[in-house]
Amino acid sequence: MKLLPSLLSADFYNLEKSLLPLQKENIQALHLDVMDGNFVPNISFGSGLIEKIRKHYDFEFDVHLMVENPDKHLDAFAKAGADILTVHYESSKHIHKTLQRIHFLGKKAGLALNPATPLESVDYLIEDIDLLLIMSVNPGFGGQKFIPQCLRKIELAKEKIQSGKKKILLEVDGGIKVDNVESIIAAGAEYIVSGSDIFGAEDINQRIQKYHRIFKKMDS
Ligand code: DX5
Ligand code: ZN
Repeated sequence: MKLLPSLLSADFYNLEKSLLPLQKENIQALHLDVMDGNFVPNISFGSGLIEKIRKHYDFEFDVHLMVENPDKHLDAFAKAGADILTVHYESSKHIHKTLQRIHFLGKKAGLALNPATPLESVDYLIEDIDLLLIMSVNPGFGGQKFIPQCLRKIELAKEKIQSGKKKILLEVDGGIKVDNVESIIAAGAEYIVSGSDIFGAEDINQRIQKYHRIFKKMDS
């Protein structure tokens, strides 16, 4: 299990200060939300910022592309230092080709499904992905409420992955807090994204420690 703080909720006025507790608490991966104002209503940041941050940190960079026509941008984000490039099933006309391009660029390929997108959408793509991201809010903003129907979808996604031969990471993103993370892990999630609950905490270190204690408990 891994906790991936989502940069979207960090203090952009003082990123160094926001990221210091993550290093102290031995966080290994960072989730970076790229939004284009088209695929989702919001605009966040692009490859330029990611490249700058990359120079100073050795986290695994998990780049979540919430953009229309992601193919246009893959090279730039690969060059900026992404380790995982996750694209939305709903965002590309030729999603299989998009995933192949990510592998061609030497990166892990992630596939994200919006809450209303059926799990069966991955059936013909499962051989071509390294990570499946189940969105548990409608993408676009941090700080939304976890959609409870997604729990069942996570369970079914886990079963689907386990019935195949390939090792695929199961990631869940949106509305995760220390109060509901246990049920999300119990359903099968391995990569746990959390934004507002971490960066909105009075003490970020303590909040991360709390997650890590829960992970330990669930692991044993
Ligand atoms: C939502 C983003 C999430 C967001 C999560 O569109 O994909 O990664 O940062 O934020 P919280 O944890 O606050 O729901
Ligand atoms: Zn995200």
